[in-house]
Amino acid sequence: MRVLVVGGAGYIGSHACKALAEAGHMPVVYDNLRIGHKWAVKWGPLEPGEINDAATLTAVMRRHRPDAVMNFAAYAYVGESNNEPTRYYRNNVGGMLTLIEVMQANDVRFIVFSSSCATYGVPSSLPIGEAQEQKPINPYGRSKLMGEMMLRDACAAYGLGAVALRYFNAAGADAEGSIGEEHDPEPHLIPLVLQAAAERRPNITVFGDDYDTDDGTCIRDYVHVTDLAWAHVAALAICEPGRFSAYNLGTGKGCSINELIGQARSVTGKRIAMTTAPRRAGDPPNLVADSSAARTALKWSPVHSDMGNIIETAWRWMTDHRNKAIGG
Ligand SMILES: NC(=O)c1ccc[n+]([C@@H]2O[C@H](COP(=O)([O-])OP(=O)(O)OC[C@H]3O[C@@H](n4cnc5c(N)ncnc54)[C@H](O)[C@@H]3O)[C@@H](O)[C@H]2O)c1
Repeated sequence: MRVLVVGGAGYIGSHACKALAEAGHMPVVYDNLRIGHKWAVKWGPLEPGEINDAATLTAVMRRHRPDAVMNFAAYAYVGESNNEPTRYYRNNVGGMLTLIEVMQANDVRFIVFSSSCATYGVPSSLPIGEAQEQKPINPYGRSKLMGEMMLRDACAAYGLGAVALRYFNAAGADAEGSIGEEHDPEPHLIPLVLQAAAERRPNITVFGDDYDTDDGTCIRDYVHVTDLAWAHVAALAICEPGRFSAYNLGTGKGCSINELIGQARSVTGKRIAMTTAPRRAGDPPNLVADSSAARTALKWSPVHSDMGNIIETAWRWMTDHRNKAIGG
């Protein structure tokens, strides 16, 4: 299949491109490179462009005639979304709307969409299954839920086939070291912890150590980016006209921030100084996925997501592979 990968120069999208190419598909990346990187596009052509620019998107679809689309393009930081909601809605919701319209006009029928556990808000029970009510608590989560809603309606009305993948916390890097996480500023916990290990920052700040969890710190479900990438390849294969479906992607095992820092100390052999600060508003104490539906429907299971492997691949990316990959 020829797949238009919108946002394919970013962290998860670039790993998906690698998996697509390994599975025999042809990824064509469409990205404005505002957050993503030219060096991360290695498995097919790069078409620079804005998701909200219908004319450029149309020209690219006409040129490459994709069989399917994957949409990774979004702004993805909760705190920022609270401060700049309209920027988030324009990019994430407006972008999705433009993409659906351009797909429809060009007879592209299938799409896999990056959704998020942020669509659930504060869960009423754990682990979180797809049947749990989606009640997002910030503009980012709401923008992702709106993306799902538009897709659901477009499937019903126009016969589109869509799969929404609700990722929990993406982490780790390609084991061969050709791509990895590179955000500036970096919002994600594991790279920040590893920056502290590499003495690129003085310490790591833990927000809240008085949650109702075993060690008082928040628990999250970390899933290796390579496992996420392969879930996209599997999702392509189950897209069918007129059907919208959604799957949680996580390991089902929670890891507290304290545990994560402990593992990072043992993998890196570094001290990693830690300070604590008050809780941040809107951080649920515990988010763990029930991914049994993905295991059945996508025949997917996370095989790279052991926390030791996640930290090891992210550490090797940061200390060894990154400079070569960016330079070459
Ligand atoms: N990283 C996570 O843990 C996580 C968890 C849940 C969901 N998600 C979702 O997965 C997707 C990918 O996340 P990521 O961590 O790889 O993010 P990322 O920022 O690394 O990648 C997003 C890519 O989209 C591009 N992009 C953004 N806006 C665009 C626009 N208007 N036009 C064209 N390109 C645009 C960026 O340049 C970037 O290359 C996002 O939609 C995010 O909401 C991520």
